[in-house]
Amino acid sequence: MNATAAPVAPAWSPDLEERYAPLVEQLERLIPCMEVPLHLPWIDAINTLKKERGALIMAHNYQSPEIFYGVADITGDSLALAQQAATCDSDIVVMCGVHFMAESVKVLAPDKTVLIPDMEAGCSLAASITAEDVLALRAKHPGIPVVSYVNTSAAVKAVSDSCCTSANAVQVTEAVAREFGVDKVIFLPDRYLGSWVAQQTDVELVLWQGACEVHEKFTAMEARHARERFKAKIVAHPECPPEVLAEADFVGSTSAMGRWLDKEKPERVAMITECSMADNLRNDFPQVEFIKPCNLCPYMKKITLPKIHAVLSDLSNEVVVPEEDIAGARKALDRMLAVGRRDRV
Ligand code: 13P
Ligand code: SF4
Repeated sequence: MNATAAPVAPAWSPDLEERYAPLVEQLERLIPCMEVPLHLPWIDAINTLKKERGALIMAHNYQSPEIFYGVADITGDSLALAQQAATCDSDIVVMCGVHFMAESVKVLAPDKTVLIPDMEAGCSLAASITAEDVLALRAKHPGIPVVSYVNTSAAVKAVSDSCCTSANAVQVTEAVAREFGVDKVIFLPDRYLGSWVAQQTDVELVLWQGACEVHEKFTAMEARHARERFKAKIVAHPECPPEVLAEADFVGSTSAMGRWLDKEKPERVAMITECSMADNLRNDFPQVEFIKPCNLCPYMKKITLPKIHAVLSDLSNEVVVPEEDIAGARKALDRMLAVGRRDRV
């Protein structure tokens, strides 16, 4: 079956609910319970096919619970997925995330077959800048190194000096400035992540005007309202505008959010980030009440169980990174991986 053909659901069998009893119970707490029987045949078919193929499924923290808990072998934030890509031993990796994440797996493990369930799963940040834009910035700021957020294409990474994620952006920026003996760095493409980094370092940043179309929609009023009316703690992703971050009790990567909840154990929390983050965390923190200002990432939500099944069936939607970009992008990712995870929790 082609990844774009209308999916034919695998047959429902009455023993599925028994065989998947713990998962059924888990999903019934996280998504509308009526949806669970629709997902189960796909989950079973994907898990069978995954074994037959010897494939590994990676899922970002923003994937829906039926993917995150139903079929993924490895879950995490962008940094964790990149770290695991570099070391996992399966020959086939299915990336349930967005295209730049799949490209990073391919760059770090070029011999693997990397599949993405929907080629249109992009990212507004990655789309905001091209390699030509980076070269023009370099020409305008000679001698100034470039730090690119991982939410960029492999071509942009290939002309950057280092990548970073929200789990290590400050430390990577400082490490690059030290290594190049400069006090200024070009930081791209997210202007909000960039201004959050700038507040925490003496390194001067030249910013690009990219933004995440999901996080830029949040407002300070929403965060204040959640705190004042519902007495909620505010947890926000650094891709949010500065006035939203100013209202937050914690700002960090999608994985750091979970660690912060574990440490602080708030009674009630408003997650100022993509919708599924709260759904997935509710599994680990049943005692926490989640308030969910719901902004969906339309790209993350392109990934569905039928599409995962389709690419595993016919090994379609293979992610290819042009040969000429691999070495440069690898160097930039390796610099980031050398710094590792540096969240404050
Ligand atoms: P994390 O690196 O925190 O997982 O974030 C990735 C992302 O795309 C957030 O919008
Ligand atoms: Fe890109 Fe924003 Fe979606 Fe993350 S949430 S993948 S930054 S568009």
